[in-house]
Amino acid sequence: MVVNIDDDFNFLVRKISKSSGIILAGYRDSYLRRRIDLRMKAVGADNYTTYTGLLEKNQTEMKEIINALTVNVTEFMRDKTPFMFFREEILPDIMERKKKSKSNLVRFWSAACSNGEEPYSIGICSKDVLPEDWSISIYATDIDEKCLKHASQGIYSKDQIKNLDSSLIRKYFEPAGEGFKIKSIQKLLIRFQKHDLTSEPPISKHFDAVFCRNVMIYFNENQKIKMLNDFYNSLSDDGYLIIGKSETLPGEIRGLFTPVSAKEKVFKKV
Ligand SMILES: C[S@@+](CC[C@H](N)C(=O)[O-])C[C@H]1O[C@@H](n2cnc3c(N)ncnc32)[C@H](O)[C@@H]1O
Repeated sequence: MVVNIDDDFNFLVRKISKSSGIILAGYRDSYLRRRIDLRMKAVGADNYTTYTGLLEKNQTEMKEIINALTVNVTEFMRDKTPFMFFREEILPDIMERKKKSKSNLVRFWSAACSNGEEPYSIGICSKDVLPEDWSISIYATDIDEKCLKHASQGIYSKDQIKNLDSSLIRKYFEPAGEGFKIKSIQKLLIRFQKHDLTSEPPISKHFDAVFCRNVMIYFNENQKIKMLNDFYNSLSDDGYLIIGKSETLPGEIRGLFTPVSAKEKVFKKV
């Protein structure tokens, strides 16, 4: 009998998709294979069929593989310089525009926010730069409910906040056991919500900036184009799009966004 490894692999991916509700069909094949192979090694399964059988019996392993496929590595002000650019260039520009239109409400979307470090970083920068009486609203979405729960609790280790100056830590955190807890004022700014960027419509409109960092790398071209079109429609005129340092915009949608900083991967809606 000839064993078709690709069929076994596709069957396994469909099984994980069905159980998790995550549409994995569009994720890059090489990415899925790398992550699944690592889990298989960890549990001693030497082929896709054995691993599928294991997943059928073992809910804990099913959770492990879902976690492994939706990696949520992140930290406060990840990469630091894009957030410096946000404070020093983007926020002052948004402020000027708002003053002209006599508004004091700013709206941001942290798309694929993982455990909340990114939306809290956006909140901290905005609170620090914008006048006190301005309203800040941040939507923070992710496909992973476990991440969203962690995010809404707002408790982090010392390592996760290592990029923050000590003055910001004093201002926006309080000690909690071995780690730090975000003060309630920051939590009030942020609405956490489950959302799949590849299959659902955008959550809202008129954002002044959308942060979507370090998730596009997992998507295929069609998923990227769908998501970036959604961001285009969700942004207000001249709104900003901030993507991950190692990410690029597909050629098809370049006409929708113009680069503001190639180094920091910041774009503006055309
Ligand atoms: C590496 S983290 C990025 C976190 C943060 N944006 C950053 O740059 O530090 C990737 C996140 O994307 C989320 N994710 C993966 N696929 C997704 C999808 N289809 N829709 C929404 N979020 C997704 C994962 O759950 C994970 O939390």
